[in-house]
Amino acid sequence: MASDRIVIFDTTLRDGEQAPGFSMRIDEKLALARQLDGLGVDIIEAGFPIASDADAEAVRRVASEVRRPVIAALARCCAGDIDRAGWSLGPADRSRIHVFIATSDLHLSRKLRITREACLDAAVESVKHARRYTDDVEFSAEDATRSDFDFLCRIVEAVVAAGAGTINLPDTVGYAVPSDIREFFERIRARVPNADRAIFSAHCHDDLGLAVANSLAAIEAGVRQIECTINGIGERAGNAALEELVMAMRVRPDRLPFETGIRSEYLYACSQALSAFTNEPVQANKAIVGRNAFAHEAGIHQDGVLKDRRTYEIMRPEDVGVPATTLVLGKHSGRHAVQKRCEDLGFTVERFELDQIYRAVITLADEQKTVSDDDLVAIVHELRRPHRDSTHTVVSIEHIEIGYGHGV
Ligand code: KIV
Ligand code: ZN
Repeated sequence: MASDRIVIFDTTLRDGEQAPGFSMRIDEKLALARQLDGLGVDIIEAGFPIASDADAEAVRRVASEVRRPVIAALARCCAGDIDRAGWSLGPADRSRIHVFIATSDLHLSRKLRITREACLDAAVESVKHARRYTDDVEFSAEDATRSDFDFLCRIVEAVVAAGAGTINLPDTVGYAVPSDIREFFERIRARVPNADRAIFSAHCHDDLGLAVANSLAAIEAGVRQIECTINGIGERAGNAALEELVMAMRVRPDRLPFETGIRSEYLYACSQALSAFTNEPVQANKAIVGRNAFAHEAGIHQDGVLKDRRTYEIMRPEDVGVPATTLVLGKHSGRHAVQKRCEDLGFTVERFELDQIYRAVITLADEQKTVSDDDLVAIVHELRRPHRDSTHTVVSIEHIEIGYGHGV
């Protein structure tokens, strides 16, 4: 049986860029949009044109130069926003206007200061207005997961009838847990009479670290579009990380029999490009794309990986574009790993020599945490200097410990 296709809606350039420290110049946004195109995302949300002239210009540049994916622009439920989004998307081959309005009583009464009826009218009018620019209109009910359920069902039914083809129900403040999300989407899809005329979408924030788990729960409940970002960047704790979602489906088809158009071998490059443009390093232990995601330091782990990588790796580094497994030499490393790294560096090491190298590596690692290839080469050269006999070699190890302890 063919697996269901999940639409990947990338919002790195909109929700992601909204996060403090992640703003990008127009040329950087364009370069990243090209990279997202290569990665295979279905939709690129390129910005929020009413927010600033630069945002509008960035959306327009992406819409003119990136042709394969649908290019989306965000707009509040008001004519001025929608007209600006429509103008920015003008050059696109395929464009989407994404209109949103908050639907929870908390947001309606405290932030927007309007009634539910006014909210419903604005939503319907805006969807109709956006349809004048494009047939592809998405409606988002901000703070959907904390909204009154009956009211949410009414507004969803009304905007689908008005012409919204995608209904996005965000967990705006990352409050839900996976069982909530599953039940929420199942109930709403069962209750809204015209639900079958729209694609349902999830947009989960990571305030409790559950954005990816919640998005997967949404898929299990019939959602077929996921909004996500590279490296999980986004407002506050961020959005669901695209690379984690995609690889969860790729690694566990038995539980998650769904497909995406993502070419996973470009994930690492995309993550690195974003990090370079924003000057924000990727967290070392970040799943899939972090520096340590395929690094093995503990001796037992290194030994296992050298014998059969599947012992400690559930996916191959090259599947996500990481060049090769990294065996990090550190104080937990075993002799096998040290020997393998020496061999990779072109040294054939005899058993007696390996013991000496190993001791030098551990001593150095105690001081400077990890031992680089350069350190290892220096250790081997020092031990092999011709005038040394075995007594001197011990001395030389002490020397190395001091001499290289500060990364010399
Ligand atoms: O988190 C949110 O609710 C949003 C909407 C604008 C889609 O980003
Ligand atoms: Zn958001």
